[in-house]
Amino acid sequence: MNASKPGVAGAAGGGAPGRGSDLRKLVAGRGPGVKWIRRHVLDTDDWSREEIETVLDQTRAMVEILSRPIRRAPPLRGRTVILFFAEVSTRTRVSFELAAKALSADVVNITATGSSVEKGESLLDTVRTLQALGGDVVVMRHGSSGAPYFVAERTESAVINAGDGWHAHPTQGLLDAYTLREAVGELGGKRVVIVGDILHSRVARSDINTLVPLGARVTLSGPPTLIPVAWRCGEVPAGVTYEPELDRALDGADAVIALRLQRERQESGLLPSVREYSRVWGLSEERVARMRPGAPVMHPGPMNEGIEIDAAVAHGSRSLIEKQVANGVAVRMALLYLLAAGVGGPDGAGLPNPIEKRG
Ligand code: CP
Repeated sequence: MNASKPGVAGAAGGGAPGRGSDLRKLVAGRGPGVKWIRRHVLDTDDWSREEIETVLDQTRAMVEILSRPIRRAPPLRGRTVILFFAEVSTRTRVSFELAAKALSADVVNITATGSSVEKGESLLDTVRTLQALGGDVVVMRHGSSGAPYFVAERTESAVINAGDGWHAHPTQGLLDAYTLREAVGELGGKRVVIVGDILHSRVARSDINTLVPLGARVTLSGPPTLIPVAWRCGEVPAGVTYEPELDRALDGADAVIALRLQRERQESGLLPSVREYSRVWGLSEERVARMRPGAPVMHPGPMNEGIEIDAAVAHGSRSLIEKQVANGVAVRMALLYLLAAGVGGPDGAGLPNPIEKRG
């Protein structure tokens, strides 16, 4: 869809009045000017390695801001970020809120329960309302795959996909890549196992779309009924393999990402039992010891401890799970900054200066 395609190319510099050189210094670019050409963040499936690295570099600058005694910077002063969550969320919603506030944006929260969506308001009318409210950025989670694309094509706001159906969760993919790279170094040649319900996992897809361009090799493992048929039959994306035996997949791996077991899969006949799943596919201390010494364990959350991951592993020395949550704030700051602060200047992908826009 058009909305997923790059917008007008822009380079650092030429910032709008009131957003001076301090802003540009925040852009930890490679080379003379960062190019940021995205108007929306809908998926990373068509992102280049350079774009992913721009976000990861920018994230490091945001981690620095978050380490200060006063965790606040002014780049988004005068901007409004609308968090529109039509599906439940803890980590993503709260980290976007903290990220937007750390950059001095105004934040408005809308959830499906308690909003007019409950009264049957259509997505299109909700979008029009968000537009009228003056949202510069709309961060949205929705149960329907593709909903953020629909919104992006009908609004002037920048749209960030915070998870849509089974399709994509691009900010999770980026924060997982950042967290992993900080833990194990450059990802070129590193082998990362993703285990669990691959079929229904937007996280698995976004992790693949982010880790593979950075040079990682991804091994998928999980019950055959929870792997897309084409992938199970060998038609996997470049850089990805499927290994049905979890122990073999973990042998010598550089990291593992466990996915949440969505228990309704058992009700729909895709699993014999949760206990059986845990026995065959759960991450125990014994299992993770098959990986390289110290190789990290990740999980996007929320976790079913004792099912896809034992508590001793989830909270053990290899676990990066809390770091993933913490890095989620910095990654989302980086994305908000790149989209809303307008590093592209007047001709770039950034939004108009809020003073001009509202003046
Ligand atoms: N990882 C993740 O998306 O968690 P939440 O559902 O809590 O946002």
